[in-house]
Amino acid sequence: MSKPFDIAGKVVLVTGSAKRIGRGIALRLAAEGARVLIHYGSSEQEAKKTAAECGNAPVYRANLESVTEIERLFAEIESREGRLDALVNNAARFTGFDPMEIKEADWDFIHSVNLKAVFFCCQQGARLIRKSGGGRIVNISSLGGIRPWADHAHYCASKAGVIMLTRALAKAFAPEITVNSVAPGVIPFGEDQTEPTRIAPLIRATPAQRAGTADEIAGAVLYFLTATNFVTGQLLAVDGGLSQA
Ligand SMILES: NC(=O)c1ccc[n+]([C@@H]2O[C@H](COP(=O)([O-])OP(=O)(O)OC[C@H]3O[C@@H](n4cnc5c(N)ncnc54)[C@H](OP(=O)(O)O)[C@@H]3O)[C@@H](O)[C@H]2O)c1
Repeated sequence: MSKPFDIAGKVVLVTGSAKRIGRGIALRLAAEGARVLIHYGSSEQEAKKTAAECGNAPVYRANLESVTEIERLFAEIESREGRLDALVNNAARFTGFDPMEIKEADWDFIHSVNLKAVFFCCQQGARLIRKSGGGRIVNISSLGGIRPWADHAHYCASKAGVIMLTRALAKAFAPEITVNSVAPGVIPFGEDQTEPTRIAPLIRATPAQRAGTADEIAGAVLYFLTATNFVTGQLLAVDGGLSQA
């Protein structure tokens, strides 16, 4: 129990790992010797590319909006891999709305993936991880779960939910499984022309005076995956200090 968790050879599922931060986490864990399972929803080509770069990692598809799909995903992992040692809940959605304009469908669009799916992936993942003798769960939350953003109230609530879920499940799953959370700050990928204008004020307000990278998030995930079970229920903001500004 007091030993660090050696992830070499361990089976680790990273949800939403075809692209962006999830891809960065998968690449880093594969480089550390983990057997990474690449999950995607719709980005099949990108998932196959990431899997190839992770040493021909297995690829799994599931729409995380559906609890039935989540149950099928973990049943498929059990039958194909025979075990699961760790889970990184990374997949999420992000939208912006004036809270006075938001509709039920807009709320459900975010909460079905960002909070409900994280809970049921933790539940299904913990069942498999327990059968494998214990392991690690890391939930990717957000700076938006710590700081309030007016036009993202629905998103902020979902990510604050992830932070509390992490704390409650850390108690529920102890001592066999640790549950921790990494809260990214601004991590751009240059995919959208409006991005530089949108993130410029955030970067100005960031004590580190720059945006972060997927590999910086991956480093924090790796810390929680490899720490002893004395580190659980914790939140690590990797945000250049913006949550403190
Ligand atoms: N980037 C940032 O600046 C930032 C800041 C704070 C927090 N975060 C958090 O960090 C994590 C990764 O961020 P990101 O920007 O890399 O995320 P992203 O690109 O917006 O989403 C990651 C993946 O989630 C998957 N996903 C979404 N809905 C799904 C569904 N219904 N079923 C299955 N998969 C689904 C998508 O997979 P497919 O493409 O295969 O459909 C997507 O590629 C998220 O939890 C995000 O909230 C990011």
